[in-house]
Amino acid sequence: MEKVKTKNLKKYFYVWGKVIKAVDGVDISINGGEIYALIGESGSGKSTLGKLILKLLEPDEGEIFFDGVNITNFTKEMMRPFRRKMQMIFQDPYTTFNPIYKIGTQIFEVVKFHKVVESSMVEDYVVQLMRILTLHPDILRKYPFQLSGGQLQRCAIVRAISLQPEFLICDEIVSALDVSIQVQIIELLKVLKNEFNLTVLFITHDIGVAKRIADKAMVMWAGKIVESGSIEKICYEPEHEYTKKLINSVLSIKI
Ligand SMILES: Nc1ncnc2c1ncn2[C@@H]1O[C@H](COP(=O)(O)OP(=O)(O)O)[C@@H](O)[C@H]1O
Ligand SMILES: [Mg+2]
Repeated sequence: MEKVKTKNLKKYFYVWGKVIKAVDGVDISINGGEIYALIGESGSGKSTLGKLILKLLEPDEGEIFFDGVNITNFTKEMMRPFRRKMQMIFQDPYTTFNPIYKIGTQIFEVVKFHKVVESSMVEDYVVQLMRILTLHPDILRKYPFQLSGGQLQRCAIVRAISLQPEFLICDEIVSALDVSIQVQIIELLKVLKNEFNLTVLFITHDIGVAKRIADKAMVMWAGKIVESGSIEKICYEPEHEYTKKLINSVLSIKI
């Protein structure tokens, strides 16, 4: 089943009289219950595409479909039933959380707002998710600045998955983490995919990480998807010159 689709999606930025074609005519099709890697170097348009799909940015042109529904022109109000179903986790967890509130307060709030569980159960529910990510429940009483980047990123994951989303965009979420935590997070996403049929768009510049996690892959370059297919095909039989270059640049990392 097709979960997410875009048609000729475009987003240009105008900076000092220059046009930056961040997303330049992107057609993608994401099937439910699979993990897709979106691979490309810094500046290729990956984050912009992710934000367009979730309607955190308005496209200049093109269309976005979620579960077959054209959400391109949906207002905030109309997006409400979709909001819980589609979540995005960003590279920098310090921008995800408000610095002036405790972590627990911020996670409980979204779980209550979306009525994921009964209000008397919220704390237990979140503590359970914290355990899965090997986070001590005491962290819920701390402020963002009191945590390491790795702990805070795992809290951001707890907050996103606490809403039991159907579609999750992870934007370079493991790039700044230790390898052991990277592996743990990748394994967790695979479990969520298998147990809850979660669909994931995993954005990364690292084709080695993509190989570890993804079923399918799309390679992005200068605002365009230049190649897509199974992760094996992309890694072992790349067709596009740019994909080959990406692979050569990480040959030191075994994939
Ligand atoms: N808000 C913005 N204003 C101007 N330019 C932007 C903005 N966001 C992104 N860009 C530019 O668009 C291009 C793609 O950016 P981005 O989507 O962040 O790429 P990636 O996530 O692949 O690194 C880059 O050249 C970036 O500088
Ligand atoms: Mg980015």
